[in-house]
Amino acid sequence: MNYKEDFPVLKNKDIVYLDSGATTQKPLEVIEAVDNYYKNYNANPHRGAYTLSMEATALYEDTRTKVAQFINAKHREEIIFSKNATESLNLIAYSYGLENLKENDEIVLSIMEHHSNLVPWQKVAKATNSKLNYMYINNEFELSDEEIEKKITNKTKVVGIAHVSNVLGTINNVKKIIEYAHKKGAIVVVDASQSIPHMKIDVQELDADFLVFSAHKMLAPLGIGVLYGKRELLNKMTPFLMGGDMIEYVYEQDTTFAPLPNKFEAGTQNVGGVVGLGKAIDYINKIGYDNIKKAEEEVISYARDELSKLDYLELYLTPNKENHSSVISFNIKGVHPHDVASILDTEGICVRSGNHCAQPLMRFLGIDSTCRASFYLYNTKEDVDKLVAGLTKTYEKFKKYL
Ligand code: ALA
Repeated sequence: MNYKEDFPVLKNKDIVYLDSGATTQKPLEVIEAVDNYYKNYNANPHRGAYTLSMEATALYEDTRTKVAQFINAKHREEIIFSKNATESLNLIAYSYGLENLKENDEIVLSIMEHHSNLVPWQKVAKATNSKLNYMYINNEFELSDEEIEKKITNKTKVVGIAHVSNVLGTINNVKKIIEYAHKKGAIVVVDASQSIPHMKIDVQELDADFLVFSAHKMLAPLGIGVLYGKRELLNKMTPFLMGGDMIEYVYEQDTTFAPLPNKFEAGTQNVGGVVGLGKAIDYINKIGYDNIKKAEEEVISYARDELSKLDYLELYLTPNKENHSSVISFNIKGVHPHDVASILDTEGICVRSGNHCAQPLMRFLGIDSTCRASFYLYNTKEDVDKLVAGLTKTYEKFKKYL
């Protein structure tokens, strides 16, 4: 099955797109749904007593229900729309972290967290005098059970964990981490940004307290994100952003807040983005996670094998295939990743280079940056062959200087 046909950018341009970890391409169905929204339904939701506004409201709220079903949330008001995973994580840090942590409490993060699930917790730690501790990875680029059990203690109040690392592709056993954290009395914040495009998420089965993702990494438009939170937690939290539509009554000196979910959705929302997210969910449901997994596994397994044959490459990759998702980070030994990425670009190959918003992880690995190829259902073995050819060409250019 060639899914590329569904994606206009991949049809219209002669490129090998290997940066889906940063943002996925969008299928025509999603682009058309957004276009149709602006052509036929655009109005400010929740605010108009006229039909067009009510239609926009219905599209927005129906998508909330669709997202709730997609991740198996118990209640639709447990789904809060934000602008991206970063904003969702900031909301949790400000509204839960600042209000619930106190001196000597502990926040535990994995060293592979994206800055978005790390920097907000630094703010919380500093503001509340709580401690920020890290779970480090072993030499297979994974978190061991011993490390998890050593770092999550009775003092831990919050655990922040990426379901899949955006640098290593390591799949963390979040179910186990959540179970263990709950035993110790901590809540768990799962960053599912790199997992939800590739695998079924069931928040009730995981028993996640909070789970966030960015829609643009799962085929939807940029500028829309999701926060899932257990209703009892969200109900107790005060809003993060103040303004229109999140209030109940506003007096000169005080305000009461709207019930969930509006309490956390201040200001006019990105309805077009939400409509696009709804269509992206339809697209994923139509293909099915099983087929996505099948398409990806074949290509990623091939990529792992082919890249492993290049002895001039350093790979940052777990040897355990079953714990590895869609991302492969690598360096040509002695060559700066930006140079590698620029030369690959001349061959039409799009990879990300840099620290991938994970500087503490880079420091832990003893490097500044990597190149990263990240895959999605539309990638093919031919894309991998082109990447290998591009890397070989790059290496040949630099070889004499190494
Ligand atoms: N967080 C995105 C990435 O890993 C941007 O590339």
